[in-house]
Amino acid sequence: MFRAPIRIAGIGSCLPEKVVTNDEIANMPDLITSDEWIRKRTGIQQRHIADKDQATSDIAIVAAERAMEMAGITAKDIDLIICATVTPDNIFPTLSNWIQKRLDCNEVGSVDVSAACAGFIYGMGMARNYITLDGYKNILLIGAETLSKIIDWKDRNTCVLFADGAAAAILQPCEEDSSWIGPAFLGSKGMPEVLITPAGGSRIPASHESVDNRQHYMKMAGREVFKIVVKIFEDLARMELERHNLTIDDIKYVVPHQVNQRIMDMVSERLNWPEGKIFSNLWRVGNTSSASVPIALTEMIEKGLIERGDLILSCVFGGGMTWASVIFRW
Ligand SMILES: CC(C)(COP(=O)(O)OP(=O)(O)OC[C@H]1O[C@@H](n2cnc3c(N)ncnc32)[C@H](O)[C@@H]1OP(=O)(O)O)[C@@H](O)C(=O)NCCC(=O)NCCS
Repeated sequence: MFRAPIRIAGIGSCLPEKVVTNDEIANMPDLITSDEWIRKRTGIQQRHIADKDQATSDIAIVAAERAMEMAGITAKDIDLIICATVTPDNIFPTLSNWIQKRLDCNEVGSVDVSAACAGFIYGMGMARNYITLDGYKNILLIGAETLSKIIDWKDRNTCVLFADGAAAAILQPCEEDSSWIGPAFLGSKGMPEVLITPAGGSRIPASHESVDNRQHYMKMAGREVFKIVVKIFEDLARMELERHNLTIDDIKYVVPHQVNQRIMDMVSERLNWPEGKIFSNLWRVGNTSSASVPIALTEMIEKGLIERGDLILSCVFGGGMTWASVIFRW
């Protein structure tokens, strides 16, 4: 098992200022739900939602600036930009291109990863390989979403879950025997229909009809996704520990995609993990897709929950279905 000597030299997040509580959602027109239902079924109490004129890059650049500051580098030091997102400012060009322009980076490579909620760990695997195999020195990896822009605020299945937020990390090569990143395990299964925004692509281009039919909003088969995610999360966690020859006691925190508190609790119980092993901030930020793991990591660093040398296990899963996992030493 090759543990690549790479460290996250800086990390930072940015959540839109506006906070929307469950009660505010319950008071929205044409929506029958309640704070009690949302808390019980998801664990979410509130979420951050972007303003009308706020796009994904607006929060992503703030997160990137914070990550660069922590790493002690400038935009001119970045040699590759990878953004994980399903809500870029435009279908094309990429979110990474906007980041590059707005941070005034050099003419370095920039690419978006579209792997839904699994995107950040897909990006981490890519960054690891670019650093290890191709000698990159400062990769800016971003997970950023404004899912509120594709949420149907009349669909209680989805609007109570998803939210907005961004976080960025600077990945650098480091000394052997200090920090490391294990290989990212990537998986997916062709089940596009269970979590999908039907229109706006080449299958159903934008038309008056597609807008009238609300096809530009995300649709989800919640119960089906729930079942699959529990199984994938459990399998990934077992597999990662086994292939690294570690036990859960070696891991300081499990930082999974912040999906649904019931899913996290269920997996923790099934695997007999001690209470508090899984870090969760879902109650206050909701499901921010590709941004959820780095937002959680940033909060953990700010609170002093992780120190250099700690082992972190991350398992993520999302639309596609896609999934990924990694163990890394902070
Ligand atoms: C969406 C989710 C919270 C629904 O919870 P659930 O316990 O599975 O609920 P069900 O889908 O079985 O629905 C139970 C009932 O609650 C209703 N319901 C759904 N959303 C509701 C809401 N926000 N408020 C009140 N009632 C709601 C359903 O319509 C259904 O009513 P019915 O029995 O009259 O048909 C849950 O399935 C889930 O979290 N799934 C995973 C989704 C996810 O995480 N996706 C992202 C993956 S990255």
